[in-house]
This record gives sequence, C-alpha cells and structure tokens, in this order.
Amino acid sequence: MAEIIGAVTTSHVPSIGIAIDQGLTQDAYWKPLFDGYLPAKEFVRKLAPDVTIVVYNDHGLEVFLDRVPTFGVGAAAEYRSGDEGWGPRPIPSFEGDPDFSWHLIEHLVAQEFDVTMFQEMGVDHGFSVPMSIAFGGPAGEVEAWPTKVIPVTVNTIQFPLPQPGRCFKLGQAIRKAVDAYPKDARVLIMGTGGMSHQLQGERAGFMKPPFDRMFLKNFVDDPIALTNIPLGEYMREAGHEGAELIMWLVARGALNANVREVYQHYHVSASLTAAGLGCYVNA
Ligand code: DHB
Ligand code: FE
Repeated sequence: MAEIIGAVTTSHVPSIGIAIDQGLTQDAYWKPLFDGYLPAKEFVRKLAPDVTIVVYNDHGLEVFLDRVPTFGVGAAAEYRSGDEGWGPRPIPSFEGDPDFSWHLIEHLVAQEFDVTMFQEMGVDHGFSVPMSIAFGGPAGEVEAWPTKVIPVTVNTIQFPLPQPGRCFKLGQAIRKAVDAYPKDARVLIMGTGGMSHQLQGERAGFMKPPFDRMFLKNFVDDPIALTNIPLGEYMREAGHEGAELIMWLVARGALNANVREVYQHYHVSASLTAAGLGCYVNA
C-alpha cells in the first residue's frame, strides 16, 4: 500500500539553484539560508521516500501563455531540467513512475479533477530547486536522485488561477488516490512557491513577514482558515507571486487534519522572495 509519509513545503527561487550549482552556498549572502536547509535535508533523508509528488507551477518553460492547464500531472518516465535562460542546470534528470502517475490521473479524474496529462515534460526551477533543497548538493554531488518523482502543476501565471480552497481539495483528492494505490510506496509530497514576494510592477520587491508568519502558523493549526482567504487577498497581502502559496495548500490537503511541524525555516530574503520552508508529518 502506498502512503503519504510527510510533506516539505518551500520557496523555489531560481538563484537558490544557481547558488547550489555554482558552489556559493557558504558565501555570506547565502549561508544563513542554506544552513537553515540542513535539518530539512536530514528530515527527508530519514523519511527516505520512494516517490515524491512535487506540486509546483511552471513559469513559462513547459507551459506558455497560449495554453495553460489549471492542473496537470506528469506521466513521463523521465523529466529533464530545462533551460530557463541560465543554461540547463548541471543536475541529473528525474526518474518518473508512469504506473503511479496514471493511477493518480485516473483517480483524480474520477474525483472530478480533470487534469491535463503530460506524457513528456521538462521541469523548471519551481520543481528542480525544491528537489535540490530537499535531496541535492553541489553540482556533481548527486549522481542520481534517491526518489522517483511525479510532477503536479498548478496554474499561477495566467488568470484565472484556481482558488485556495480548490487547491486544498486537490490535495485531498491526491491523498485518496495515493491511499488507493495497491503497490508499496513511501510518498513525500512537496508544495513549492511563495512565500511573500512580488517580482514586477510598482510593488516589485514587496514582502510581508507578518503575513508569512500567520500562514506558517495556520498551516499547522487552521488550514481551513487559509483556504477561506480569497486569492485576491493573497496577492494584496503577500504580493502578486505570493499567490504561489496555493501550492502549499495542495500539500496540506494531502496530509491529515492534524499535523506535526517537525521543522520550520524562514529567511528574508533570497533574491526578491521571503523564503520559507516547512517539514511536516501526520499527527
Ligand atoms: C523569484 C521568485 C520566484 O518564485 C520565481 O518563480 C522567480 C524568481 C525571485 O525572488 O527572484
Ligand atoms: Fe515562482
């Protein structure tokens, strides 16, 4: 039987990936951020997931504005890290689990989540940076990722975006699908993006730690309160790209009502982002 054994939620800034790949993690600017990631790596190493479901948003690598699925699931045997303008990252490709992916897709559609199926897809920083944070090391250190992966995409780049409550329900549907998978698999779910940040417009550089702290607290104590915040308010309160926090809500929906926070790290800032990370297990 497959089982969700925990969750890791984290921001997914591209320059975090570049810092890892270029061996800059101990530089003065990056050290406090990366030192804070070490307990999360230990958490993931001990969990030793067979499969990791990575809930993220594509930023224009695989999905462009001419066709944007609200929700998508990868069903490929392999996912390569794409070139977002800095060259492809020097990391191994990610091994998929097509049987599990198709099971997930079938069960999500049966639960009225009519997801787009990706039989081929490249993955961008929204996927690869959290994988490096949780599983990786400097360039060349990781010869093969110690987990298979299933990418799950959520549209956060073109209006209309899915509402927070809908994302939480997607997580609940993922949970049901995992519980119904007959093969043995230890499954980690990751939710990426956020926390508060805005990359463009008059408020570029906007961050709001009090909102992020409220989110981190209610993520454990009262996730339903977070699903009741309308998307527009996420954008007003956490910046335009702060809306990426809806991917954290997918991960939260896949956990029990009661969870235990094993570890939390919050650092302002990494690039233009208030960088947050959380490690959770079912209570
Ligand atoms: C940054 C943050 C993001 O979430 C992203 O997708 C791209 C860039 C940043 O802070 O630089
Ligand atoms: Fe992003």
